[in-house]
Amino acid sequence: MRHTLPMADSYFIGLMSGTSVDGIDAALISINHNKIRCLATQSVEFSPSLRSAILDACSQNLATADEAAQLDHQLAEDYAKVVHSLLAGSTLSPENIIAIGSHGQTINHAPDARPPFSLQIGNAQHLANLTGIAVVSDFRSADMAVGGQGAPLAPAFHNDIFRSEEENRVVANLGGIANISVLAQDKDANVIGFDTGPANALMDYWINVHLGKRYDKSGRWAASGSVDQDVLSTMLADPYFQRPPPKSTGREHFNSHWLATMLKPFSKPGPADIQATLCELTVVSLSNDIKRYASDDSRLILCGGGTHNVTLVRQLQQHLPSLTIESSSQFGIDPDYVEAIAFAWLAHRQLNKLSGNLPSVTGATKEVVLGRLVRPALGQL
Ligand SMILES: Nc1ncnc2c1ncn2[C@@H]1O[C@H](COP(=O)(O)OP(=O)(O)OP(=O)(O)O)[C@@H](O)[C@H]1O
Ligand SMILES: [Mg+2]
Repeated sequence: MRHTLPMADSYFIGLMSGTSVDGIDAALISINHNKIRCLATQSVEFSPSLRSAILDACSQNLATADEAAQLDHQLAEDYAKVVHSLLAGSTLSPENIIAIGSHGQTINHAPDARPPFSLQIGNAQHLANLTGIAVVSDFRSADMAVGGQGAPLAPAFHNDIFRSEEENRVVANLGGIANISVLAQDKDANVIGFDTGPANALMDYWINVHLGKRYDKSGRWAASGSVDQDVLSTMLADPYFQRPPPKSTGREHFNSHWLATMLKPFSKPGPADIQATLCELTVVSLSNDIKRYASDDSRLILCGGGTHNVTLVRQLQQHLPSLTIESSSQFGIDPDYVEAIAFAWLAHRQLNKLSGNLPSVTGATKEVVLGRLVRPALGQL
């Protein structure tokens, strides 16, 4: 009788700092025969000064190349600290980790520019040197080189872990921007996935300006206001919402300037009413797309920070009464770490020369291996 030895676990770390610019999420995972287990997680908020430097860079107020380089370096140091503390709380050491998948901080995502590009910073070589672990980064360029949007990338991971042959499912990631992955029960159906528009980015901005808070905890402030239908209709008239996929967006489009332009004709609604309207904008844009692209018997799985926004989730259920809405925690995955786990998984794909993009989602002409691998420089350990 032939015995096959069990394949050893492979360990990867995923690092995500997203469009909300709230901080760094890290996940330590093991992969064994494509079975993924999340072993440890860490979340660290950005300091107010780093956050404001990143936001300046995103809004193109960045003055010099020096400042960009400093930010690139600083982010790598912050990422390394999170990796060290993640490992300190585990039984593993850097030599046990095959690679870190580091998304980096998006400074400019321009998939429709000529030529298209998407810039993430957080120096991968510096991160590798500081941690002694190989780093996979720059996940978007390879997809863009073959005509893709370079985004969203999470749907491939959603497809891998949430797809079911028993039911239709949709995954919605509610970060700064919202993206959906439509996962049909029919295993031959292509995944549909794209950014639907803002999730938290505009609500975060608005509460920060008016109440000085980082975000609207549980959506309580939004719940205290009334949706202004005229403002909502004006916002929903933005052509992005009608554009068919593939499409992706970010702070380059849905930002404080966008909001100021939208609000210009209106003087009546108070700040809480605008917050209620921004919450409804997220809900209506998301639910319109789910109605358009997903079957109405789908299970909707939520992840990302917006999962904790009770007002948003309640309104989503009102707009999608036939769907069962659940947090990814019902599937054993903490909603705050789905994206970090996705980038650990993408690092595993890179190391194994497996494709990481879904052409049906990004619009790429073919499947490609995503990311660039750097190893710690000798003498730096
Ligand atoms: N308890 C909460 N109540 C309401 N909103 C919350 C709560 N916790 C987090 N959030 C929202 O979630 C946001 C952070 O979400 P997340 O970290 O998933 O987004 P991200 O970093 O932008 O990632 P990405 O855009 O890549 O998906 C916060 O800025 C906040 O708006
Ligand atoms: Mg975040």
